[in-house]
Amino acid sequence: MRIALINGSPKVKNSSSSILLEDLKGYLGKNVEIVNVELHSPVITKEDIEELMKTDAWVFSCPLYVDGIPGHLLSCLIQLEESCVKNSKKHIYGIVNCGFYEGIQAKIALKILQNWCLKTGYIWSGGIGVGGGGGLAMISNMKPGQGPKAAIDRAIEKLALSILKNDITENQYVSIAFPRFLYKMAAQLGWRQMIKANGGKAKDLGKKLD
Ligand SMILES: Cc1cc2nc3c(=O)[nH]c(=O)nc-3n(C[C@H](O)[C@H](O)[C@H](O)COP(=O)(O)O)c2cc1C
Repeated sequence: MRIALINGSPKVKNSSSSILLEDLKGYLGKNVEIVNVELHSPVITKEDIEELMKTDAWVFSCPLYVDGIPGHLLSCLIQLEESCVKNSKKHIYGIVNCGFYEGIQAKIALKILQNWCLKTGYIWSGGIGVGGGGGLAMISNMKPGQGPKAAIDRAIEKLALSILKNDITENQYVSIAFPRFLYKMAAQLGWRQMIKANGGKAKDLGKKLD
């Protein structure tokens, strides 16, 4: 079995999308062949399309952007659509991680991927909405299944089993196992540090642009 793990974050390094795919890879085991595809820009190469066509299942992992999928990934999906063989037996899975604490925020983005499958004739086979995705990069060294990532890893393990069995499952929604108020405080601290590192002021975080 050949499985494509598709990183749909615009970030080239240290994205939560890539951390989640790495965890999934661990649960898929050694008897499958993994094909890594990196979609960081609005254009998908001919080589990537050819590679994707030679796989049995695709797993998209992307961040939630404005309640949907990132624009560059949508652009890649449109290009892929033109290359798709209608009524293919390919199974499509999705992992959408978001900055908000609640994984359910990713419901619409998963629906977008499902809708794309309806259009292309591929088989939407389920996904995971991961809340608290912004914190994953901070705990990337933690072993899978432990600490604040434990609940997320359980969902990923379940998804891996479905992929290996070519199953279709319901979407799952999970959150990082970390108190919500502490997650919010850490996020606010992170934004303050980020704006200062980029030459701005913390008070500008709430600024409305005309
Ligand atoms: C342009 C933009 C829009 C975003 N929109 C949302 C959103 O609607 N809801 C949400 O919970 N998080 C939103 N986020 C936060 C990201 O989903 C979050 O940081 C995610 O963990 C990034 O994943 P990545 O590291 O895989 O790219 C947004 C981030 C950016 C940059």
